[in-house]
Amino acid sequence: MKSMDNQGRRNLKYLVVIFVLISLSGLAIVAIAQSGPEVVVLTPRKGNINFTHHKHQEIIPDCGFCHHQGVDKGPCRGCHNGEIAPRFMRKAHFFCRDCHKEKGMGTKCTQCHQIK
Ligand code: HEC
Ligand code: HEC
Ligand code: HEC
Ligand code: HEC
Repeated sequence: MKSMDNQGRRNLKYLVVIFVLISLSGLAIVAIAQSGPEVVVLTPRKGNINFTHHKHQEIIPDCGFCHHQGVDKGPCRGCHNGEIAPRFMRKAHFFCRDCHKEKGMGTKCTQCHQIK
C-alpha cells in the first residue's frame, strides 16, 4: 500500500511537470505567433503597400516561408537591394502575387499598391 502511494504521488508530480511544460510552450507559441511589426509600409514608386504582416502570419504560420534566410537576418530589403540579392520588387512580385493568384484574388495592381 505504501509503495502504491509513492507511485501515485510520483505520477502526480510527472503530470504537474508535463502540465507546466505544455503551458510554457503554449505561451512561447503565442509570443512567436505575433512577431515583428503588425503592418509594414513598403514604399515603391508605384505606390505604397500596407503589408498586413500579422494577418499574413496567420495565413502562413511558418516564418521561414518568407524569411527564408532566418528572421534574425533582418528585413528583406537589407539584402534584396540589387547588390547582395536581386532587388526586392523583382522577387516580391512573383512571390507575393503567385499566392494571391492561387487564392483566387487575381493580380490587380491596386490589391497591393495604393495608386493615386
Ligand atoms: C508572407 C511573408 C511573411 C511572413 C509569413 C512573415 N513575415 Fe516577417 N516580414 C515580411 C516582410 C515583407 C517584412 C518587411 C521587410 C522589409 O521591410 O524589407 C517583414 C518584416 C519583419 C520584421 C521586421 C524587420 C526585421 O527583419 O527586423 C520582423 C521582426 C519579422 N518580419 C518577423 C517575422 C516573424 C517572427 C514571422 C513568423 C511568425 C514572420 N515575420 C512572418 C514578410 C513575412
Ligand atoms: C541575408 C540576405 C537575405 C535576406 C534578409 C532575404 N533574402 Fe531573399 N534571397 C537572398 C539571396 C542571396 C537569394 C538568391 C538570389 C538568387 O539566386 O536569385 C534570395 C532569393 C529570394 C527569392 C527567390 C527564390 C527563388 O527560388 O528564386 C525570393 C522570393 C526571396 N528571396 C524573398 C525574400 C523575402 C520575402 C525576404 C524577407 C522576408 C527575403 N527574401 C530576405 C538573400 C536574402
Ligand atoms: C501564401 C499566401 C500569401 C503570400 C505569400 C502573400 N499573401 Fe498577401 N494575402 C494573402 C491572402 C489569403 C490575403 C487575403 C486576406 C484576407 O482578405 O483575409 C492577402 C491579402 C493581402 C493584402 C490586402 C490587405 C489584407 O490584408 O487584406 C495585401 C496588401 C497583401 N496581401 C500584400 C502582400 C505582399 C506585399 C506579399 C509579399 C511580401 C504577400 N501579400 C504575400 C495571401 C498571401
Ligand atoms: C501581391 C502584391 C503586389 C501586386 C498585386 C503588385 N505589386 Fe508591384 N510591388 C509589390 C511589392 C512587394 C513591391 C516591392 C516593394 C519594395 O521594393 O519595397 C512592388 C514593386 C513594384 C514596382 C517597383 C517600383 C519601384 O519603386 O521600384 C513596380 C513598377 C510595380 N510594383 C508595378 C506593379 C504593377 C504594374 C502591378 C499590377 C500589374 C503590380 N505592381 C502589382 C507588390 C505587388
